[in-house]
Amino acid sequence: MEVFEAIKNRRSIRQYKADPVDDKTVEAILEAGRWAPSWANTQCWRFIVVRDPKIKAEVADSLMKRKLPDKVLDNPGATAINTVPVLIVVCAEMGRSGCRPGAESDGTPVTDKGDWFMFDTALAVQNMVLAAHALGLGTVIIGAFDAPQAEKTLGVPDGYRVVTLFPVGVPAQEGKAPPRKELSEIAFKDKWGK
Ligand SMILES: Cc1cc2nc3c(=O)[nH]c(=O)nc-3n(C[C@H](O)[C@H](O)[C@H](O)COP(=O)(O)O)c2cc1C
Repeated sequence: MEVFEAIKNRRSIRQYKADPVDDKTVEAILEAGRWAPSWANTQCWRFIVVRDPKIKAEVADSLMKRKLPDKVLDNPGATAINTVPVLIVVCAEMGRSGCRPGAESDGTPVTDKGDWFMFDTALAVQNMVLAAHALGLGTVIIGAFDAPQAEKTLGVPDGYRVVTLFPVGVPAQEGKAPPRKELSEIAFKDKWGK
């Protein structure tokens, strides 16, 4: 699939079939993540591939519900996680990205933005969701979950955090594209606002 086509046509998919996704396909998706750029090539990301239905269900339980005045809505990602055969959990080693690399690192950030782990893992995630899309599979990136709860379920050690997770499966819906801001609203010439 051509790269611009993949970028434009990938959609968040929240309804899935229970069809299998084999290990080779999952490896191809992880491989796309592995080749993402990262701060000083520190590659702070770690990926957990969850196939165990019990563990998937426990992680799905950590997703936050949306509280409206008259009702509480489940995060649609929870049903998705319980339907698909594979969940990819993206973790990060803390105190690496945004710091001096390798042996020089004492975990002190070099820039005023602190630890760049969110940035690096996001690049890996974008590579992976695009790769999944190119392979005919759907994903939805999930951010609204209780990370400490998910870390406990998954046995994530100290010094690492769960950043995000995404189900991978055969779509049971056509994704509808939410509108994007016009380029004129978000891109400037030479200086801010021009
Ligand atoms: C950091 C991040 C967190 C997100 N968290 C959730 C989530 O918790 N639940 C959900 O259903 N979608 C979640 N999404 C998906 C967004 O709602 C979706 O990407 C956005 O509406 C644009 O739609 P598209 O992905 O189809 O282009 C998240 C996306 C990102 C990038």
